[in-house]
Amino acid sequence: MPPHEIPRQIISAAAIATRVAALAREIDQNLPPGPLTVVGVLRGAFIFMSDLVRAIPRDMTCDFLGVRSYGDATVSSGVVEITSDLAAPIAGRHVLLVEDIADTGLTLRYLLDLLNARGPASVHTCVLLSKTAQRTTTIPVDFVGFEAPDAFVVGYGLDAGQLYRNLPYIGVIEPPG
Ligand code: IMP
Ligand code: MG
Repeated sequence: MPPHEIPRQIISAAAIATRVAALAREIDQNLPPGPLTVVGVLRGAFIFMSDLVRAIPRDMTCDFLGVRSYGDATVSSGVVEITSDLAAPIAGRHVLLVEDIADTGLTLRYLLDLLNARGPASVHTCVLLSKTAQRTTTIPVDFVGFEAPDAFVVGYGLDAGQLYRNLPYIGVIEPPG
């Protein structure tokens, strides 16, 4: 097996750490007081969420939604299959939905509708990266880490064919396939 392509770094680990700390302050200042559930979308958000929640100094519970997009790995269909549901109800709770990246926005739209149907007190969205070039839906993204270029990005949780999630920085590769 040939060695995998080494992604070209576009956001360093240090820049990520600085931005995540600022984002956590922004979230803490803007979310209403009251019971908070942070919902991470598996698997892409797991590293981002783990850094983010440790920088938000308030009581919270953490929960996860496992999702799988139908179809091609690099093009969103917007139809997501829930492979693992939340462990606890969110009725009456303030929810912060944490995703790795909003590309077309279809996945976030689907998940927002799903969560809103369960009677939460509020739902806010936070994405590490926002790629607006392919955005086909108007979704409210309340907190954005970085704007991303119109390229396939990997690292810090984001994958290409399940690889590269463990890269400490964010880089760009040629799309697989
Ligand atoms: P959307 O539904 O088009 O917004 O796509 C959202 C999902 O597609 C994300 O949760 C990612 O899993 C995946 N995705 C979109 N762009 C990229 C990328 O550049 N790198 C890695 N995953 C991506
Ligand atoms: Mg994802």
